[in-house]
Amino acid sequence: MDILDRLSEYRAREEQLRWEGTFRDYLDIVRAKPHVAQSAHSRIYQMIASAGVQTDEQGRKHYKFFEREIFGLDSAIERLVEEYFHSAARRLDVRKRILLLMGPVSGGKSTIVTMLKRGLEQFSRTEEGELYGIKGCPMHEEPLHLIPPELRSDFEHEFGIKIEGTLCPACRLRVQDEYNNRVEEVPVERVLLSEDDRVGIGTFSPSDPKSQDIADLTGSIDFSTISEYGSESDPRAYRFDGELNKANRGLMEFQEMLKCDEKFLWHLLSLTQEGNFKAGRFALISADEMIIAHTNEAEYRAFIANKKNEALQSRIIVMPIPYNLRISEEVRIYEKLVRQSDLRDVHIAPHALRTAAIFSVLTRLRDSKKQGMDLVKKMRLYDGETVEGFKEKDIEELRQEAPDEGMSGIDPRYVINRISSALIRRDTPCINALDVLRALKDGLDQHPSITKEDRERLLNFIAVARKEYDDMAKKEVQKAFVYSYEESARTLFENYLDNVEAYCNWQKLKDPITGEEIDPDEKLMRSIEEQIGISENAKKAFREEILIRMSTYARRGRKFEYHSHERLREAIEKKLFADLKDVVKITTSTKTPDVQQLKKINEVTKQLIEEHGYCPICANELLRYTGSLLNR
Ligand SMILES: Nc1ncnc2c1ncn2[C@@H]1O[C@H](COP(=O)(O)OP(=O)(O)OP(=O)(O)O)[C@@H](O)[C@H]1O
Ligand SMILES: [Mg+2]
Ligand SMILES: [Zn+2]
Ligand SMILES: [Zn+2]
Repeated sequence: MDILDRLSEYRAREEQLRWEGTFRDYLDIVRAKPHVAQSAHSRIYQMIASAGVQTDEQGRKHYKFFEREIFGLDSAIERLVEEYFHSAARRLDVRKRILLLMGPVSGGKSTIVTMLKRGLEQFSRTEEGELYGIKGCPMHEEPLHLIPPELRSDFEHEFGIKIEGTLCPACRLRVQDEYNNRVEEVPVERVLLSEDDRVGIGTFSPSDPKSQDIADLTGSIDFSTISEYGSESDPRAYRFDGELNKANRGLMEFQEMLKCDEKFLWHLLSLTQEGNFKAGRFALISADEMIIAHTNEAEYRAFIANKKNEALQSRIIVMPIPYNLRISEEVRIYEKLVRQSDLRDVHIAPHALRTAAIFSVLTRLRDSKKQGMDLVKKMRLYDGETVEGFKEKDIEELRQEAPDEGMSGIDPRYVINRISSALIRRDTPCINALDVLRALKDGLDQHPSITKEDRERLLNFIAVARKEYDDMAKKEVQKAFVYSYEESARTLFENYLDNVEAYCNWQKLKDPITGEEIDPDEKLMRSIEEQIGISENAKKAFREEILIRMSTYARRGRKFEYHSHERLREAIEKKLFADLKDVVKITTSTKTPDVQQLKKINEVTKQLIEEHGYCPICANELLRYTGSLLNR
């Protein structure tokens, strides 16, 4: 479709959303759709909830609203939604507190706030999220404020809606002067929230404390009209255009809140506590908005250490936003950042981001006191892999053991910056895992918050990530060498099971070709079992365990497959690789391949490119690298 058509379509849609009427008409709307009069906090919760909530087997909630942009923070998000957004939507006391997101740099705090802002703009354009305001009010305030306090209990009785807040000074004057208190005639319009238009969404960012004026928050005297109206307390001589005024009905982001001068914070106190704030020479001004601030841990510690801040402290709800601790989610974060960066057109070799993710996640983990646990195992468990000797329950215990895990470590943006700098140094349009590791290593010297001791630790993590990559690389090449890897693994597995079954039941097998009865193939079974160190003495127990597992699966109507049993899967893979090893080794490392080897190399390269996401450059590099690995 033509962009011009799109434009006019868009305009028509926005036009359709517009509505204007009188307060009388508005009351009809409220009667039919009471939700239009809900509080900002409640609307924000509705927005999050209406995007969808999934409850998993453990009873944990996953909020779709955040899923598109925020990865791996499910439990932090769950806590944030339940303990703040949901409670604030229902109860008053939580709403009276400022929400403070606390977390390490580049951990997604701003992203969360931005999602809420953009989300609200959208939501106010839907039927579920629609809201109305007094037309011409500088704060687009709730029209129900027009109902005089004396009549509010009647209204509540009739409509079942509680009215909070009073008319702003500007509207109060207008209602008297222009409408002679006939409030039913006051014009009302639908409000479409928009940060660009300064409607219902604001950002306050402290600048130099000496020059910054409280007016930025609460509006200011309009010196051009003050002589006309003669008094500073005439609302017509005042501009209600501070960030708190403009963010009414929605949310205000308070950047660097704890760096801010105290006098700004005291305004917030009254606002959050009483739902109003003081501006100029006016009575308190009602405001209905959520205030979200963010900070890092060090700043927060310094803030609470200061006795003077005690009163403020009790009016803040702190929600930790830690780094993600799951490798696979970390990869998704990088993929997102790559799409947004100058790396978009570069080929990033398979496993490169994963290798970087292994490094970053390791830097964020805390050592555990658990018997037999180490950081690599912990990392695997967190990522949902099965680790021998540990269960789902252990993950919960690990988390409890280190509640502040994820509040430090390497941040995602740093990794992306390092990858970018790797690109500058290479003249190929492709970056592989080794390039990434090298760039990360070189960058350690430049990272501002890395001490000498840290450096040792981090270098060690780079070595671990390298080792993990080596395994992935070898596996990948070997897989590419087997024409159809899955197929071969399955065949070998089925074959093993047939033999185990016959062995345990003292039966014979039928030769598939001759139909002769034959003994179970002991040599085959042992060659697989030996891969995972099962001794001659332990083999019987292992085989019986497999058989029991098979029948359990059969009873439940599930298919027992080669990846159903972790150790058996490992054994099957190792066996396949062992059979292949020599071929791979010779083929990938020979300097002068013969015709046969050349053919195989081409085949494998083709396989890597077509099936595994490599480009010719990184496919070649992978083969050369694994060749050298296998010959060590
Ligand atoms: N868990 C995550 N899921 C998705 N993206 C993330 C995550 N953590 C960080 N990012 C991405 O990393 C970048 C930096 O995050 P963001 O700016 O939101 O962090 P911040 O916590 O506000 O950092 P700062 O303290 O430096 O202001 C963003 O592009 C963000 O989308
Ligand atoms: Mg930020
Ligand atoms: Zn008003
Ligand atoms: Zn490539």
